[in-house]
Formats: sequence, C-alpha cells, structure tokens
Amino acid sequence: MRDMWTMTHFKSIEELNEVQRQKIVEIFFESSSKKDFTNEVEAFSFFYKWTVYYFSAKYPGESFLYNGVNGNPLGYLSGTDNSLKAQPYFDQINTCYSIFEEEFKRFPAHFHINVAAEARGNRIGSQLIQRYTDHLRHKNISGVHIVTAANARNRDFYRQNGFIHEVEKTCRKVPLVFMGKIL
Ligand SMILES: CC(C)(COP(=O)(O)OP(=O)(O)OC[C@H]1O[C@@H](n2cnc3c(N)ncnc32)[C@H](O)[C@@H]1OP(=O)(O)O)[C@@H](O)C(=O)NCCC(=O)NCCS
Repeated sequence: MRDMWTMTHFKSIEELNEVQRQKIVEIFFESSSKKDFTNEVEAFSFFYKWTVYYFSAKYPGESFLYNGVNGNPLGYLSGTDNSLKAQPYFDQINTCYSIFEEEFKRFPAHFHINVAAEARGNRIGSQLIQRYTDHLRHKNISGVHIVTAANARNRDFYRQNGFIHEVEKTCRKVPLVFMGKIL
C-alpha cells in the first residue's frame, strides 16, 4: 500500500488507467460552472471540447495528475506552454480567449486546474502549480498565466502562488482577470 502522494505527467489521457480517467471526468464536471446537459452525448462533447487540447497527443498540451495515498486521483492541472500557438483552437470555442493576447508574449504558458471538492484546501492545487512551473522552467518558458472571473474565490489562491501581474478586462459583460507569473 502506498502512503505517499505522487504526480503523473501525461500527454494523452489514454496513458492513464480507467479509474484515473473516470476520476478526471468526475472532477471536471464537479468544477464546471455548466452543470445541466440534455444527455450524455452533449456532456461528453462539452468535456471533449474543453480538454482535448490538453488530453490528446494530437495537440501540444500536457497535464499532471495528483494521486493521493493509495493512488486515489484528487486533482489535475492541464496546460500548454504556447498560448499564441493555441489561439486557432481556443478562438473557435472561447470568444474571450484572445482578449489578453498582448500579454501572451511575456506569459506564454497557460493552464487550468481542478481539485476534487472533498480534497480542496490541502495544498494539492499549490503542489500541482509548483510541479508545472518547475517543468516550464526546465523548458525555458519565461512566464505562465491563468484567466479567471475577476470576483472568483480562486483569485486569492493564484495570488498566494505568485501570480501577481494582474490585468482586468470585461468580455461579453463578464469581468475577467489575467494573472501572470514570471518564471
Ligand atoms: C482553486 C483550487 C484549484 C485550489 O486548490 P486547493 O488544493 O484547494 O488549494 P490550496 O490548498 O493549494 O490553497 C488554498 C487556497 O485555495 C483557495 N481555495 C480553497 N478552497 C477553494 C475553493 N473551494 N474554491 C476556490 N478556491 C479555494 C483559497 O484561496 C485557499 O486559501 P485560504 O485557505 O488561505 O483561503 C481548488 O479549490 C478548486 O479546484 N476549486 C474549484 C475549481 C476552480 O476554481 N478551478 C480554477 C479555475 S480558474
């Protein structure tokens, strides 16, 4: 029995076992602001649209999975080190993706992070960010960013993790904040 947490780095979700894959899907929907779907096909295409860039070897994105004791997956981080290169994909699905485009040069990488509801507040999110930023530094990437709602609770979480370059803009009447960290 394992009594230590571990981190799994993956380029494709196919590299994970069934339990890990299912838990990622569960955490994704638990953390999503959209909860209502007409059927499973609609839910799956929503999941696919937002994750394929990070979960398929066809695209340059990559991810880290946090496994708690006994290998129980408790959170994941998905990102890409080149947000400009990712623009053609994300512009199709997110009309707000490019509003902070001028910041992408200084902060080329971006990511999304979700921790299982029952496991939040235990520094899992902070450890995932630490692992990803170490990885980006090894690749000589100069900076990383996230975009979140300007009034989101997670804004403090990112500040605590060193994302101190903040730019606010409104997109489709939603106030957003770009938060960057120099690496
Ligand atoms: C935001 C999130 C990734 C943080 O991971 P975590 O492992 O809970 O965070 P850590 O334990 O490393 O850091 C704790 C800080 O995270 C923030 N946090 C804790 N629980 C949170 C929650 N339920 N929702 C949002 N932020 C939370 C707080 O700022 C907290 O600091 P505090 O204890 O001083 O208040 C995680 O809470 C989560 O998945 N939330 C829901 C989805 C989400 O907001 N994802 C980010 C989208 S941009």
